[in-house]
Parts: sequence; C-alpha cells; structure tokens
Amino acid sequence: MKILGIETSCDETSAAVVSNGATLSNVISSQTVHNYFGGVVPEIASRIHIQIISKVVKDALNKANTTIEGIDGISVTFQPGLIGSLVVGTNFAKALSLRYNKPIIPIDHIEGHIYSGFLEGLDIEFPFITLVVSGGHTAIFVVKSFNDFEMIGATRDDAAGEAFDKIGKLLGLGYPAGPLIDKLAKNGNPHKYHFPRGLISSDDYDFSFSGLKTAVRYFIQKTFNGSVPENELADLCASVQEAIVEVLIVKSQKAIEKLGINTLVIAGGVSANSRLRELAADTFSKKGIKLIIPKIQYCMDNAAMIAILGEFKLIEKNESFNFFDYSFKANPTPKRSKNR
Ligand code: KG4
Ligand code: ZN
Repeated sequence: MKILGIETSCDETSAAVVSNGATLSNVISSQTVHNYFGGVVPEIASRIHIQIISKVVKDALNKANTTIEGIDGISVTFQPGLIGSLVVGTNFAKALSLRYNKPIIPIDHIEGHIYSGFLEGLDIEFPFITLVVSGGHTAIFVVKSFNDFEMIGATRDDAAGEAFDKIGKLLGLGYPAGPLIDKLAKNGNPHKYHFPRGLISSDDYDFSFSGLKTAVRYFIQKTFNGSVPENELADLCASVQEAIVEVLIVKSQKAIEKLGINTLVIAGGVSANSRLRELAADTFSKKGIKLIIPKIQYCMDNAAMIAILGEFKLIEKNESFNFFDYSFKANPTPKRSKNR
C-alpha cells in the first residue's frame, strides 16, 4: 500500500509518501518569510501554501518514484491549525481524491505527532506514552492503540515552544527562537541563573510556562535594565532552556513511573532540542525505558507522520467511516479535553 500525506496546518508545506510503514519521501518547504515579522502571519502562510503545494506534492511523488495513479489513499491534516492554511491542504487533497478516485483520510495534526515514533520503525508496543512538545502544544498522552489514546496532562497556558520563542524575543533573538536558544546555550552555564519550573511538583501531568516568561522579563528589567549584555546571553539561554527541559523530563518520568509504562516517545518541534534529547537519554535509558525521539525531519511539522497514520487507519478500515466522504471541514480549534 502507498499513501500520500499532505500537511499544511501552519507554516510548513509538506507532502510525503509512506508505504507499509516505510517513508519513501518527505518533502518539507518551510516558510522563512515569517522570521521577518517575529511570528507566523496567517494570511501570508495560506497564500504561500497555495503557491507551492502543487510543486511539493509532485516532488514527493517523484522522490518516491511513483505517480498519483500509484497511490492507494490520500491522508491530510484537517485540524488543528491556522484555518487558512488547513483549507489549502484539505481542499487540495479533496480535489486529488475526487479526480483520481482515491480514498481520503482526514488526520488530526496532534495525532500525527503522537504516532510519529512509528516513522523510526514499527516495533513499538502499546501502550506507550508520548510527550508532544511544539510551538502550539505541550501535552502527555497514554497511547493504547491506533484508535485509542488519552490526554493525561497539558499546558495550562503557553506551550514549551511558545515559551522558547517568547523568551527569545525578550533576549533580542530572531524567530523562531527555540533553535537559536539551543545553539547559544551550548556555550552557557545552565546553573548560572535559577528560573521557576512551573508546576514541577504538582501531582498531575500539567505544565505551565507563562510564569517563566514573566520571571525572565522582570529579571532582565531588574538586572540588566531591560537590555541583555552580549556576554550574558549564553548563560541566560542555557538557564532558560534548563528550566523548560527539566519540567518536561520530570513530568514524563512521573507518567512513566505512576502508570508503569516503559516506552516513551517525544515528538513535536521542541523535541529537536539537544538538551532535551541529552537529558531524556540520560534519565530514561539508564532506567531501561525504551526512548524514541524521531529524527528532526519527523519531529517538526511533516507529512510523513500524516501519511503513516493514514495508512494505519486505512488498513484498519473502520467500517463506519466513509473514505469518500468529503464533508469533513478544516477545523482550527477542535475541543480537546483530558481523557481524550
Ligand atoms: O512542531 P513544530 O514544527 O510546529 C508546531 O506545530 O508548533 O514546532 C515549532 C516549535 C517552535 O516554537 C520552535 O521554536 C521550536 O519548535 N523548536 C525548538 C527547537 N527547534 C524547534 N525549541 C527548542 N530547541 C530547538 N532545537
Ligand atoms: Zn506540530
């Protein structure tokens, strides 16, 4: 079976072909123009998706050495995300599905991240825990099967990536600041400054990063009169990064230990962070926990994770689902409660 995946939920235009769990291609076109504005401008994002989606899909098919005729199904991200961006991907996928008579599988973007560990190999046993950490989401899921997962904790305010990006702005860095903080932190002392670790001792799996952002803002005002000296930047980045990463690890560890589950997947854009990878390897591998952090191209927003989940869903063929039903709509903000 070969599945074409399409992902346009934010500012990456991506298409991929997955076959029997193996990624044959994963083309990602990132919209760097947003760096200039210090954040994603939704209207610009959707316009660029329109301009480029056809080429990205063709490239993904070519790289996989196939054509649209050779595809068995099209899976596409329909929620959550920027509405204008989602509309481009879903309508492109619907048009292909209708024209070439291929089943269509609408996929939730977060579900894509949750199951993205399978892009590193199919030998992951249920149940497992996935920590999804991105610019828009920070949550912990218990995953019981391809159709059954439960959200056991989530951020109460900012996502971890959002914290990296907003604090980076306070430090005078560009957007997105996560990778820049990661790079600068390599030459800094993570223990030079102690910033708050929100909810680190709370008895649940929730996160909170807005207090950290506020603490850094006041710290910069008080200590440096609002402007961070060049020679303090590395230590500040390392200290901020340590505060964020430590909470992510502690809460994941709490879930692993309390629920007695011994496989952990860390996914989403922030899982590219080198300190998070290092601390996770240190903490979990020693304890015999199977740790899966996908390659960076599968951590950031990508269509391979959308395609592989589409393939699982098509193979399972839930009879109540009509794969030629085009009535699904792009949905920017689905309701997501704990316990689902
Ligand atoms: O998953 P993603 O590509 O898009 C969303 O769905 O949000 O994640 C993007 C986020 C941004 O906030 C970015 O700053 C962060 O991931 N990020 C990082 C790193 N690389 C990307 N944060 C920390 N360290 C990194 N190396
Ligand atoms: Zn994402």
